[in-house]
Amino acid sequence: MKILVIGQGGREHALAWKLSQSKKSKIVFVAPGNGGTSTEEKCVNVSINVNDFSGIKKFIIEEKIDLVVIGPEDPLVNGLVDYLEDLNILVFGPCSNGARLEGSKIFSKKFLFENDIPTGKASFFSDPESAYSFLDNCEYPIVLKADGLAAGKGVLVSKNSKEAKEWVDSVMNNSLFGVAGENILIEECLYGTELSFMGIMTPSEFIPFETSVDYKPLFDGNMGPNTGGMGCISPSPFMNDVLREKIMKKVVQPTIDGLNNMDVSYYGFMYFGLMVKDDNPKVLEFNCRLGDPETQCLMMQMDSDLVECLEDALDNRKVSISWKQGSSMGVVIASSGYPEKYRTNIPIEIGNLDELKLFHAGTNIAENELLTSGGRVFSLNYHASNLEDCVSYIYNKIDEIKFDGTIYRTDIGKIYES
Ligand code: AMP
Ligand code: GLY
Repeated sequence: MKILVIGQGGREHALAWKLSQSKKSKIVFVAPGNGGTSTEEKCVNVSINVNDFSGIKKFIIEEKIDLVVIGPEDPLVNGLVDYLEDLNILVFGPCSNGARLEGSKIFSKKFLFENDIPTGKASFFSDPESAYSFLDNCEYPIVLKADGLAAGKGVLVSKNSKEAKEWVDSVMNNSLFGVAGENILIEECLYGTELSFMGIMTPSEFIPFETSVDYKPLFDGNMGPNTGGMGCISPSPFMNDVLREKIMKKVVQPTIDGLNNMDVSYYGFMYFGLMVKDDNPKVLEFNCRLGDPETQCLMMQMDSDLVECLEDALDNRKVSISWKQGSSMGVVIASSGYPEKYRTNIPIEIGNLDELKLFHAGTNIAENELLTSGGRVFSLNYHASNLEDCVSYIYNKIDEIKFDGTIYRTDIGKIYES
């Protein structure tokens, strides 16, 4: 099969790597890919932007692609799957109606309310004045969210009204997130332990992936600003059978039913961002894609042939996924200044990593030199029979990756109950 992966991050490197290992795949194109995907066996980078829909379609037709797998949320929310509908090929990803669950936080909150899915209380605002008066009378901390896509930066957990009002001012009056912040939600703060629950969703079933924990804060001890994720372990030590059953019954099934009731035929990855307290899950967010850096860890942990799983889902056959015993872990290596301003085009040197797997996230190759091109540059991953071995193997080798201004957490693998 000829496969095309859309995207350029660590998630897409991991997906392309896993898809390329399938006995069914002949070649895996990655558009646009990164410095890591270009060196993977069977993988070839194609210089097409993820939102260049006509360029993508032309390439699919010319190369006679059999299966397209879309990594990031942007092209999904912007309707890439709808745009490719008339091509008679397999496209894995939800249409724009399904991707709205991520594309609009107000839409998704209303969906949660209407389908009785447990979530935090929230109010919606389209003008700053009414948001200010709400913020004068609410309990703190409170959570503020821009309605639209804001590259993972559209959420503030605020401790006081001054900070909250400043956020409203910069988002609604000064367009910090452009049109994505024209409308906002103000949401009850939830407490507990966060859980990333993701898998493959079709109109008839949800096949969960192994669980994982994303280490979101920048610094050790889960301190500092939120990031896209600084590391991951799988499986999550917080999962148990009671909780799994509750998630499937109270969150997953009503989501499938709710989408079907809206005539949305959802075929794609689905990621439920959950807050869990006393084994009771509440939905923080839906993502119509897989997480990053969770995917890197999960692809290390997956035993099944991913191409077969995706084909089965798209052809409405029962999907079954098997997982390895033991644990997987990944540590993100970022560039100093991330998640705010960071430099790019910094030369990188990679030493001997033995059997560890390095997924690239923000790299490219220019004139045969590997350079940084993003804030999160790599994640270094390993699978072992236990988490302690992952910790020692990864941290033993992490300094083999050298560029000016590397930052990483030194406590990935440690379990924090929040
Ligand atoms: P979201 O994009 O909605 O998942 O928000 C990003 C992050 O903000 C989440 O992963 C949580 O860490 C935090 N967050 C979002 N909503 C809430 C909430 N209602 N209560 C507490 N933390 C939240
Ligand atoms: N790691 C969190 C996310 O991908 O949204």
